[in-house]
Amino acid sequence: PKRTRVHHLREMKDRGERWPMLTAYDVYSAEIFDEAGIPVLLVGDSAGNNVYGYDNTIPVTVDELMPLVKAVVRGAKSALVVADLPFGSYQVSPEQALTTAFRFMKEGGAHAVKLEGGARYAPQVEALTGAGIPVMAHLGFTPQSEHALGGFRIQGRGDHGEKLIEDALAMQAAGAFGVVLEMVPADVAKRVTGELAIPTIGIGAGPDCDAQVLVWSDMAGMNRGRKPRFVRQYADVGSILVDAARRFGDEVRGGEYPDADHSYS
Ligand code: KIV
Ligand code: NA
Repeated sequence: PKRTRVHHLREMKDRGERWPMLTAYDVYSAEIFDEAGIPVLLVGDSAGNNVYGYDNTIPVTVDELMPLVKAVVRGAKSALVVADLPFGSYQVSPEQALTTAFRFMKEGGAHAVKLEGGARYAPQVEALTGAGIPVMAHLGFTPQSEHALGGFRIQGRGDHGEKLIEDALAMQAAGAFGVVLEMVPADVAKRVTGELAIPTIGIGAGPDCDAQVLVWSDMAGMNRGRKPRFVRQYADVGSILVDAARRFGDEVRGGEYPDADHSYS
C-alpha cells in the first residue's frame, strides 16, 4: 500500500471523508495499526505516561522519544508517522524548533512533527514548514501546559472560543497541515473545522472534526487507571495479557510447560 501523505489528508477533508489517528510507541503497535488501515500514527509525548510511567508529558526528552520514533517508522509501511516535539524542545525559538525537528526527521525518520500552542508559535511553524517539515498543530487542552492551564480541563469555553479559532487560523496561515483539538466543546470544534481548509483532529472535541485521535493504550485497555470521559475502550488487551501471563505462570509452576512438543531432542 502507498504511503499516506499530508496532501491525502487535505483531500479527504475536501471529500468529507473522516479518518482515524492513533498513537504508537513501538514496532508491534505500528505494524498492527498499519495493518488495520490507520493512516496516521503519532509518536506522542504521551509516551511519558504510557511508556515511561511519568505523571505527565513534561519530563519527556527528545532522547527518550527518538528511539520510539525509529521503531514506529520501521513498523509503519503505509502510515504517515508524526513525531511529537517534547516540552522545552521548540518553545525557545524557531531555531530551536528547527534543530529538534531536523533530528526527528533525519535520525528518527519521521514524516512530520507536532507541537503544542497557538499564534505565539506561528514563527516556529513557519520556520519548520519553510524548511520542508510538515507540522501538525495542537490546541485546546495542551498537556505540556498543564500547570498554566490549571489541570486537566476543557478549553475554549465561552469567550475563549474566539481565541481558539484565531489560534487555529494562525496555525493554518503559518503552514500547518492539520490541527489537533483536545478537550474542546463540540460546538467550538465544529466551528473551527468549518473555518479551516486543513483538517482538524479531535480528541474530546465532539463528532464534527475531520479526524479523531486516541492514545492507543487508552482505546485498547492497556492503561489500567482512570480514563477520561472522551475515551471509548475498543478492547481489553490489558486483561488478555494478565490472563496470558497468569496461565504461563501456572503452567511453569505446575510443570506443564514446556512439554515434549516445545522441547528439542
Ligand atoms: O501525545 C499525544 O498522545 C498527543 C495526542 C493525544 C494528540 O498529543
Ligand atoms: Na502530545
